[in-house]
Amino acid sequence: MPCKVGDENPLFRPNVKLAPTMAPPTSLFMVENRFQRVLILGASGGIGRALVAQYRATGAMVVPLSRREDGFDLTKPASVDARLAALSGPFDLIVVATGALEIDGIGPEKSLAQISADALARQFAVNAIGPALILRHVPRLMDRQGNGVCAVLSARVGSIADNRVGGWYGYRAAKAAVNQIVRTGSIELTRSHKGAALIALHPGTVRTKFTEDYLGRHPAVAPEEAAANIVQVLEGIGPAQTGQFFDWKGASVPW
Ligand SMILES: NC(=O)c1ccc[n+]([C@@H]2O[C@H](COP(=O)([O-])OP(=O)(O)OC[C@H]3O[C@@H](n4cnc5c(N)ncnc54)[C@H](OP(=O)(O)O)[C@@H]3O)[C@@H](O)[C@H]2O)c1
Repeated sequence: MPCKVGDENPLFRPNVKLAPTMAPPTSLFMVENRFQRVLILGASGGIGRALVAQYRATGAMVVPLSRREDGFDLTKPASVDARLAALSGPFDLIVVATGALEIDGIGPEKSLAQISADALARQFAVNAIGPALILRHVPRLMDRQGNGVCAVLSARVGSIADNRVGGWYGYRAAKAAVNQIVRTGSIELTRSHKGAALIALHPGTVRTKFTEDYLGRHPAVAPEEAAANIVQVLEGIGPAQTGQFFDWKGASVPW
């Protein structure tokens, strides 16, 4: 039975205060945070960078990793293994904030006729296989006795049940695949880390490089707001929520 991160969930704290700080230009939001040791993968991205800033602002120790700044390339398993093997942890929060909609200049397909084997393979490499390579390291990087959380940024368009408009074959399929990897990994993780949680998270529609050519008039939030929403949802995640798919409001997303 999917569990909603909401009022009926005792782990959810509805009184989390979200208020802009007095100090622009970073426009951080003041948030409650229970995580002290945080690892952000994809820290160079719009959402990843904002998450690093949010968690640092709460005083947490944050380790950022990215392709641009650290050579952490999801399409190169040896690079993922080398960068993660260099970390000892334990972390009480790991966020996988990597991902791509347009890869090497190839955007999402609008029709079956546009499907290309090469573009599909690249989508899976970045959005499904890459996070899976990261998850290989997660049990070692989390305390067995702790109540750590690992969240993988997925997307609502990866939901098969919620797919009503079609299109975007590769991205949708790769996100559906990563959802299955998260779900399967969560079952295994619970055996060794009883208090931990591994979840998929839809961050909402966010104004980042990722969406700049695709937003049109679709409403979207700034990365700082998206990060504050994610921080708030993660505050309410515990072992009862492991293996589930949530959106930025903490509502359950159907697989
Ligand atoms: N923005 C939205 O509206 C939205 C909606 C739904 C879901 N999401 C999901 O949220 C996540 C973050 O999105 P975002 O908007 O923050 O995107 P973004 O600003 O484009 O950032 C993407 C991040 O992924 C990294 N990345 C891409 N390919 C990589 C590779 N091969 N190896 C390692 N890192 C790689 C980028 O690293 P470099 O820049 O260093 O190369 C960057 O850190 C993605 O999983 C996306 O699917 C976003």
